[in-house]
Amino acid sequence: MAVVTIMDHPLIQHKLGIMRRKDTSTKEFRDLVTEVAMLICYEATRNLPLTDVEIETPLVKTTVQEIEGKKLCIVPILRAGLHMADGILKLIPNAKVGHIGLYRDEKTLEPVEYFCKLPSDSAKREIFVVDPMLATGGSAVEAINLLKKRGISKIHFLCLIAAPEGLERLRNAHPDVNVFIGNLDERLNEDSYIVPGLGDAGDRIYGTK
Ligand code: PRP
Ligand code: URA
Repeated sequence: MAVVTIMDHPLIQHKLGIMRRKDTSTKEFRDLVTEVAMLICYEATRNLPLTDVEIETPLVKTTVQEIEGKKLCIVPILRAGLHMADGILKLIPNAKVGHIGLYRDEKTLEPVEYFCKLPSDSAKREIFVVDPMLATGGSAVEAINLLKKRGISKIHFLCLIAAPEGLERLRNAHPDVNVFIGNLDERLNEDSYIVPGLGDAGDRIYGTK
């Protein structure tokens, strides 16, 4: 049964508060995307399977448990998802990485695909799709459609900020996907930007506006 987890951790709320400020610098914003992604990843990986491994401490032989990092795959939605992926890779360095390029057409608001490259064994892996913003939900739904068309079924979606409208669309389209959200904001505005939100995540990460 898939879950929706809305993080209420003070560190996440504090860091999102800095990101929302319009005068936060590009560098600080980018670093915070990575940090908040790591904090959300901590919760999103809570149920990952562990395997026993025999090791030697300085004193004795013993059995410890390890995450099978080689069975994971992180899939950032370009562009803004890239810095979330960087944070998660700091915690799970053995994960593989796939990329999905989508942008939201400014007029229709529908996602336009321009790139998709995934590890060849992705269908055997647990997949973490990452994108800072879940606004109308069009990009997340389309990215997960692309994964499912390739036979991938074990999917989690992680974002920093979601609008209720996007969460509902994602849940309706993909009820089997676990969703982890830094904060559920109030609504979308007339241009389908999240309110209060933080503006255009890609532009703020890359300084393109
Ligand atoms: C942003 C964001 C999501 C999408 C969310 O990307 O990073 O991918 O919009 O909006 P939606 O839920 O309404 O689809 P954008 O299309 O601006 O591309 P970018 O990351 O290249 O800036
Ligand atoms: N994409 C963003 O980056 N921000 C929003 O508020 C909506 C879509």
